[in-house]
Amino acid sequence: MLNKNILIGVTGGIAAYKVVEVASRLKKLGANVRVMMTRHAAEFVAPRTFQEITGNAVSVEMFGDAANFHVAHIALADFADAILIAPATANFLGKAAHGIADDLLTTTILASDKPLIVAPAMNTKMFAHPATQDNLRILRARGVKILEPATGELACGTSGKGRLPEPVEICAAVEKIFAAGTLTGKRVLVTAGGTVEAIDPVRYIGNRSSGRMGFAIAQAALNAGADVVLISGKSDLAPPKNLTFVKVESATQMREAVLKHFDSVDAVIMSAAVADYRVKNPAAQKIKKSADTLTLELVKNPDILRELGGLKTSQVLVGFAAETQNILEYAGKKLVEKNLDFIVANDVTAAGAGFGVATNIASIIWRGGNVENFPMMSKDDLAVKIVERVAELLGGRKFFPSN
Ligand code: PMT
Repeated sequence: MLNKNILIGVTGGIAAYKVVEVASRLKKLGANVRVMMTRHAAEFVAPRTFQEITGNAVSVEMFGDAANFHVAHIALADFADAILIAPATANFLGKAAHGIADDLLTTTILASDKPLIVAPAMNTKMFAHPATQDNLRILRARGVKILEPATGELACGTSGKGRLPEPVEICAAVEKIFAAGTLTGKRVLVTAGGTVEAIDPVRYIGNRSSGRMGFAIAQAALNAGADVVLISGKSDLAPPKNLTFVKVESATQMREAVLKHFDSVDAVIMSAAVADYRVKNPAAQKIKKSADTLTLELVKNPDILRELGGLKTSQVLVGFAAETQNILEYAGKKLVEKNLDFIVANDVTAAGAGFGVATNIASIIWRGGNVENFPMMSKDDLAVKIVERVAELLGGRKFFPSN
């Protein structure tokens, strides 16, 4: 952050007081910090507070108070290497999404082409409102980095999603803009968890996947600087923050979600445990217990990864193989049939490997037959190894495993 010019825009929310700490932390990290505020924000925190913390004049009015600036909004936009809006109100999101520039803050961001990080904070219902969600989608699609609000007690007396993330998290997101990771600028799609196939409205066919492996990969890709889309079947885990999270149930839904994003990503890592079969005709009502036996007719699900293997252009494709015997042989077949760059094989019956546990024991099989065998390690560490290899492939360098 040393000598980076950070412009903080503060809009009118009670969480504005937390941004004083954000400004202070960024300054301590070596950044030059300037603050612009809306008039409503200045009702919550006095501009003088930010002035004392940053050592710089604070801009509120479009005309008149930016003593050192000739044309204030242009000068502030030119100053910034990155702009952070925190807290970002629903009103601000609406204006930013639609290019409305009616005060210094909104005019400045319109005059800037630098990275924009937005930290929304508001009442839960306001955040969940379709208008707010639509505005967030528009901004995201435009490349704006949106920080997920935290969940908890809100100043309005309710509890739910809408709290400003902690200052340390906000600063980490700003720092990340300048820290070029091995996957910076790349988009990675990760699947996780197990799909569920309905038998009737009450029961389903499922599997033992917890989502741990896939969530660890999503986090490792985020840490490497990627924009991540995480598509998850059943999992009780909280997804990592600051990625696009899509929750699905069945294999059919997972296929749809994956295909929707496939064209826009550089790599796909399929660690989800996808059901190979689904019930042909799920019952509309709960099946009553009568006969001693019950026969379910199953039909084959689409093989998502195989389909991607046929569609792939420049994407790196990584699969997993959950095996219980002949691990390398079966996994090797899947690698070829699904047209993958490499496959991660795990023996899901081995102690410390496979479903639910925090560790895994895996082998990576490469096209051409090279095999890397890893000892037992945490799923977080295995995720880093997988992401490193994806980054190498995307960087155009061929990876030569040592053994
Ligand atoms: O979630 P955890 O509890 O942490 O457990 C991790 C894990 C054991 C689920 C994970 O390490 C793992 O092995 N994931 C792959 C599970 C699986 O479906 O394996 P498979 O061998 O049946 O499938 C091979 C590959 O094809 C997989 O990448 C799978 O996502 C994909 N597939 C499978 C079937 C299908 N219809 N469509 C698919 O795309």
